[in-house]
Amino acid sequence: MNAASKAKTKIAVIGGDGTGPEVAAEGLKVLKAVAAMEGFEYELEHFDFGGERYLRTKETLPAGAVDQLRKFDAIYLGAVGHPDVAPGILEKGLLLELRFQLDQYINLRPVKLFPGVETPLKDKGPEDIDFVVVRENTEDMYCGVGGFLKKHTPDEVATQTAIYTRKGCERCIRWAFEFTRKRNNPKKMLTLVAKTNVLTYGHDLWWRTFQDVASEYKDIKADYNHVDACCMWMVKNPEYYDVIVTTNMFGDIITDLAAVVQGGLGVAAGGNINPDPGGTSMFEPMGGSAPKYTGKNVINPIAAINAMSMLLEHTGHESAAQRVMSAIQVVTGTKMKSQAAGKMGYSTQEVGDLVIEALDKTPAGRAKAAAR
Ligand code: IPM
Ligand code: MN
Repeated sequence: MNAASKAKTKIAVIGGDGTGPEVAAEGLKVLKAVAAMEGFEYELEHFDFGGERYLRTKETLPAGAVDQLRKFDAIYLGAVGHPDVAPGILEKGLLLELRFQLDQYINLRPVKLFPGVETPLKDKGPEDIDFVVVRENTEDMYCGVGGFLKKHTPDEVATQTAIYTRKGCERCIRWAFEFTRKRNNPKKMLTLVAKTNVLTYGHDLWWRTFQDVASEYKDIKADYNHVDACCMWMVKNPEYYDVIVTTNMFGDIITDLAAVVQGGLGVAAGGNINPDPGGTSMFEPMGGSAPKYTGKNVINPIAAINAMSMLLEHTGHESAAQRVMSAIQVVTGTKMKSQAAGKMGYSTQEVGDLVIEALDKTPAGRAKAAAR
């Protein structure tokens, strides 16, 4: 069901660790402002999952938490990662657990250089850097299938199996074709990024599935890059891309490359999407919990506000989403000095305030303000 047809959009908030709660607070501030302007209602419920709770209770997600979260239209996540918790525990026990349990099989990463944002790519501007990565989000080496043999001996063996299923890749590829059609960029091109020359089983399945699904989307150009070539191309000619669809592990890597290309973790946002009816999706800024900046009011909230715009888009509030997206670009283009923490020219909270101020300055915002 389209969430906009419901009375209230129900959002679960997991502020998480480090600077997560600070940036999430700015996204929620923008949500409050845009909901009042656009006239829709929503309901929030906060959950304290993350490193602090884990250290207290030794549980990443308490029993029943996933079923509780399932009842929400969307989850808004700040960040996970705590310096006193060993690597892998929160990642696996919280983030990946939610992705898998809620079957959020699409990881959507828009890669857009906002006006005024610096890219490390020489001579490239906002017109060159505007593509989307659709990453499969439930399979591959992320499944946790593997083991040790003769652990802690000189003959130790470790395996980590990449699992690919026809169902898993087909639903992702099909969604990516639909998305490319809807995006309607003049290129109308979907690039499969894989490694068919070496992964001759797993990525052969992806390749064959891609060809099969492509035959149903004759209006979309079906393109292919090996992942290594894609990394070169993304730096040299980012304007080549429209939409990329890729496997979970490669998607993880190329989306961090893409995040740098779009100006860094201060701006990049992503969605973990279950597009099926009744599915619960989760939206997050890509930056980590940045412990050293915690509580200093210097971290960049643009990525979190960007994630809020994605949440709005996916819960049926397209015009609010557009409005937030435009306001972000007013602020990066005309106000902020830098996207780096502590160098923005404004505090975390001031950047949030500027975005709210700019909600009325976007073309749609001006029209609505005049009508009020
Ligand atoms: C990401 C992150 C996660 C991933 C980690 C934190 C498990 O890097 O969302 O890209 O590898 O998917
Ligand atoms: Mn990653």
